Amino acid sequence: MRGDGRGRGLGFPTANVAPSAFAAIPADGVYAAWFTVLGHGQVPGTVVAGQRCRAAVSVGTNPTFSGRARTVEAFVIDETADLYGQRVAVDFVSRIRGQEKFDSVADLVAVMNTDVEKTRGLLSGD
Ligand SMILES: Cc1cc2nc3c(=O)[nH]c(=O)nc-3n(C[C@H](O)[C@H](O)[C@H](O)COP(=O)(O)O)c2cc1C
Repeated sequence: MRGDGRGRGLGFPTANVAPSAFAAIPADGVYAAWFTVLGHGQVPGTVVAGQRCRAAVSVGTNPTFSGRARTVEAFVIDETADLYGQRVAVDFVSRIRGQEKFDSVADLVAVMNTDVEKTRGLLSGD
């Protein structure tokens, strides 16, 4: 589903995921997760349906931007795709940190870069 459209400007476009009924969502924070587009159809871009991708996933209210709605946002690493309207699975693997309210967007982006590198490491053995 559509988010605020801010992620692209940050250099981290995210897929905003609308959880299905009864989905289990972990506590607010940042996680390494596997992200899979379900089904068999064509996906515009480099993501192939049915193949899992590494993702750094944020669960929370975007405190840096004084957001209020709780969102689940997946930054899919090393791929570019139009994921609007796709059914996806997000399999949470490892918690990286809690949500933080940063004083500047640059500070947030710096930490997001380390989140992505940690995600690569956490998911590299599988
Ligand atoms: C790996 C990752 C870590 C994030 N960590 C934080 C955080 O600590 N604090 C915060 O306010 N937002 C965090 N965010 C959320 C961003 O603020 C959000 O993705 C961005 O504002 C774009 O939102 P939009 O898709 O609704 O436009 C994180 C997002 C990602 C992908």
